[in-house]
Amino acid sequence: MPKDLQLFPDSAATGAAGVDANYLYILAVSVFFAVGISLAILYFALRYKRKSEADVPKPIHGSIALELTWTIIPFLLAMTMFVGGAVVFFRNYQAPANSMEMFVVGKQWMWKIQHPNGVREINELHVPLNRPVKLTMTTEDVIHSFYIPAFRIKKDVVPGQYSTMWFEANKVGKYHLFCAEYCGTQHSGMIGSVYVMEEADYEAWLSGSVRGETMQQAGERLFNRLGCATCHKADNSGRGPTLVDLFGKPVKLQNGMSVIADEGYLRESVLKPSAKIVSGYAIEMPTFQGQISEEGLLQVISYIKSLSKSAQTAAPAPAAAPAPDAAKKGGN
Ligand code: CUA
Repeated sequence: MPKDLQLFPDSAATGAAGVDANYLYILAVSVFFAVGISLAILYFALRYKRKSEADVPKPIHGSIALELTWTIIPFLLAMTMFVGGAVVFFRNYQAPANSMEMFVVGKQWMWKIQHPNGVREINELHVPLNRPVKLTMTTEDVIHSFYIPAFRIKKDVVPGQYSTMWFEANKVGKYHLFCAEYCGTQHSGMIGSVYVMEEADYEAWLSGSVRGETMQQAGERLFNRLGCATCHKADNSGRGPTLVDLFGKPVKLQNGMSVIADEGYLRESVLKPSAKIVSGYAIEMPTFQGQISEEGLLQVISYIKSLSKSAQTAAPAPAAAPAPDAAKKGGN
């Protein structure tokens, strides 16, 4: 089948063009010099072949013009590659503020995906067309790598931390999803499909799927079940600091340092409470290592985010009314 023999993967996301342009540019420069140098060697070998023992060319003892030429041209070529790569890198690094958030947990040997509204998938990812989607990813066991060739995005998921990346699909279709890091016997089977759907089809798919609690609701339930609520009270009267309006803000620590309360900080605070003590509080909190799964952690973090007015998890919304302030504080 010709489709299996294609030289390039499909291109189905807004970021793909920039990656391809860089790739083709570097390829073109490489081909130009590989061919040019080979031809020059051939030409010089024939043209300047030594014809007799006395045939000795006049040596060149330095040439500023030559030195400048072979310094400046490669410098410019290298810098354009660097700038082109940096533009793509920075674009990939910063997800747009209105991104839909989805959560990925890798596990030998499958990809588990949670949508903020509670829909879950395994080895499948359904996304709407023309909407930026931010993935927050981690792993339950070893290093995996989440790779969607058609979107030109790939990032390792590493035990104990969150990686993020984003994309905006711009072509309806079904695309490959791979694990791109050798992770054990069934690594080659850790594959799946990404479905890019028209907004209306995506809404229909969502409403047809089994929907449990939303990420926030599941997180709130865990928060209460694990007893977090007894110490972290909304009015800050508990033994631990309040978590209301915490997400995304700087936190002053006992050692005088300050950290931003992001996903990684919240995760660490649940699993290793003594790693960063909030200024004015004692080390009283037990660790929840082993009591909460990676998916549970993501849910609790979603709940903590929902307590903050500034950083909201944008809920999937119809195209007519994109990304409202989904969960106002107290409007549960
Ligand atoms: Cu997971 Cu390879």
